[in-house]
Amino acid sequence: MHSIPEYSSLFIEYLEERTFIKEPFNLYEPIDYILKLGGKRLRPVLTLLAAELYNAPYEKALDAALAIEIFHNFSLVHDDIMDDAPLRRGQETVHEKWDVNTGILSGDAMLIRAYQLFENYDGEIFRKLAKLFSKTAIEVCEGQQYDVDFETRDDVSIPEYLKMIEYKTAVLVAASLKMGAIVAGASESCQESIYNYGRDLGIAFQLQDDYLDAFGDPETFGKQVGGDIIENKKTFLYLTALQNSDKDEAQQLEHLFSIAPTNPTEKIETVKEQFIASGAAQATQDEMAKYTQLAFESLENLEISEDKKQLLREFGLGLMKRTV
Ligand code: IPE
Ligand code: IPE
Ligand code: MG
Ligand code: MG
Ligand code: MG
Repeated sequence: MHSIPEYSSLFIEYLEERTFIKEPFNLYEPIDYILKLGGKRLRPVLTLLAAELYNAPYEKALDAALAIEIFHNFSLVHDDIMDDAPLRRGQETVHEKWDVNTGILSGDAMLIRAYQLFENYDGEIFRKLAKLFSKTAIEVCEGQQYDVDFETRDDVSIPEYLKMIEYKTAVLVAASLKMGAIVAGASESCQESIYNYGRDLGIAFQLQDDYLDAFGDPETFGKQVGGDIIENKKTFLYLTALQNSDKDEAQQLEHLFSIAPTNPTEKIETVKEQFIASGAAQATQDEMAKYTQLAFESLENLEISEDKKQLLREFGLGLMKRTV
């Protein structure tokens, strides 16, 4: 086994060897740009880690890890178009630096490249990886569509929100781990348990993402703080604030989430105050802790040593403390 930072640098080395710019430059430069912009590399690290949890050398999982990271970055390029986001990892988003059409096509090419990487696996492993990948990718699309649909709905429930984030975010985290387990030939029941661990961790991860979108430090967060408020995203923060508010406050909040002012500064400030005053900010932290705990419960079913389980627990706790 290696440490998390080791998996991360082993992965980055592999990625850098395999991404290069060629013609047509306007297709490949944005791909190279987004992939080398950094990011936490959370998902590929989980793929490599999962392979070694089940005693396969991490090298075997590198192509699956790369496929997952390229897919993730593809989804970000298109997500930033859909969310009208100016910043990603502290730099201009692809559609801002180039244009929307470039973002669409470079994104498409990344999705195809991700699929192509599974061709490096043989027979049954190829089939299992490709099958999981297709299922996951279509769920991500479904989650993204719900996310956008919710912007203009005023009757979104918390269970609907949780389903939406499970699809847009958590299933990819879960699949990252399961792919490592598949490559290593782990039993079906281990594959399922590690998937469940990843899914619940992924839900906690998106709750934290939503929290940071409102309350992150603009100096370090790397994305536009308040972006979800500008876009009227129906997050756990918003839905809980609405639930906890009296009639007048709820009406004000609903009104703010139906408009798109040219200068959103005041809207963002008012909404954030309401998120805090209503207890929604704290409730989001609590919900995050709840899903992290749920994730840990799935670890009980894994046929791996206590040391390895501890590594997965530390990983989960580390994510809860993140600021980026
Ligand atoms: C951002 O994912 C998109 C979400 C699913 C919340 P990350 O927060 O993992 O983004 P990077 O790759 O580290 O930049
Ligand atoms: C994005 O969710 C999920 C996917 C990209 C599939 P967000 O829209 O919250 O992600 P960020 O905050 O832009 O990274
Ligand atoms: Mg977004
Ligand atoms: Mg989005
Ligand atoms: Mg977000």
